[in-house]
Amino acid sequence: MTETILVDRPAERVARITLNRPQALNALNRQAMNEITAAAAELDRDPDIGAIVLTGSAKAFAAGADIKEMAPQSFSEVYAADWFAGWETLGRVRTPLVAAVAGYALGGGCELAMMCDVLLAADTAKFGQPEITLGVIPGMGGSQRLTRAIGKAKAMDLVLTGRMIGAEEAERAGLVSRIVPADALPEEAVATAAKIAAMSKPAAMLAKEAVNRAFETSLSEGLLFERRLFHSTFATADQKEGMTAFVEKRPPEFRHG
Ligand code: CAA
Repeated sequence: MTETILVDRPAERVARITLNRPQALNALNRQAMNEITAAAAELDRDPDIGAIVLTGSAKAFAAGADIKEMAPQSFSEVYAADWFAGWETLGRVRTPLVAAVAGYALGGGCELAMMCDVLLAADTAKFGQPEITLGVIPGMGGSQRLTRAIGKAKAMDLVLTGRMIGAEEAERAGLVSRIVPADALPEEAVATAAKIAAMSKPAAMLAKEAVNRAFETSLSEGLLFERRLFHSTFATADQKEGMTAFVEKRPPEFRHG
């Protein structure tokens, strides 16, 4: 039984995790971190799930790590507990993750959205890394993932001033995949996840792994890694089905193996 999230299955092969702490604008306390990461890890192990939507409310995806919980902590406490290390579990999820962001995605909220693979933003979305205004710095990947996503100049602007940007600026900067009208966001997120989930699951997992490798390695190593993964898709029945279906001019029926 979870208290900070809701988990449902809104479409075939699609799971959805909805952050549900409306009284705190979905601020991410330790319980939320534990529940989100445990739910995502469990769904990742489910062969009947091909994509996971992560979303919040119309007002807030998440307004950051929980400031009230953090305020009294000492250095020794956050260091000993390796505060935020638990989020690495989400980075190990191999099933594609679709973030659906409406309203505030600040601090840890922006960082959580950036841990996902496809980032859909409602036209109401507001992104920012306001940690500097609290006397701290990003701690869930903001200085690293934001810089890789939007480049040094823009990341420095956001991380050093703490200013918020709207969906359009976020899209121009390359932070989000697409902007969707706020009313259509829940439907569009599920439709996007369903589209991914209908693809061959091994192919989708390999594609995610290959794109993510680009952030970890040199171009020549990355190209070799990609080519080897590409070769390995020829060991799947889905490759035979996908290519045969194309030749026979019919839609493929992937069996996810
Ligand atoms: N932690 C704890 N509680 C939070 C919160 C947070 N990050 N953000 C909002 N809340 C709470 C508020 O304290 C308030 O609770 P009460 O009703 O009990 O006072 C409730 O949510 C509603 O918030 P507001 O009244 O402030 O709502 P608003 O519409 O006036 O403002 C907001 C919205 C601009 C998002 C504002 O809430 C805000 O600035 N929040 C903090 C944003 C922030 O600094 N995030 C970074 C956190 S640090 C971090 O994330 C570190 C990291 O790298 C992981």
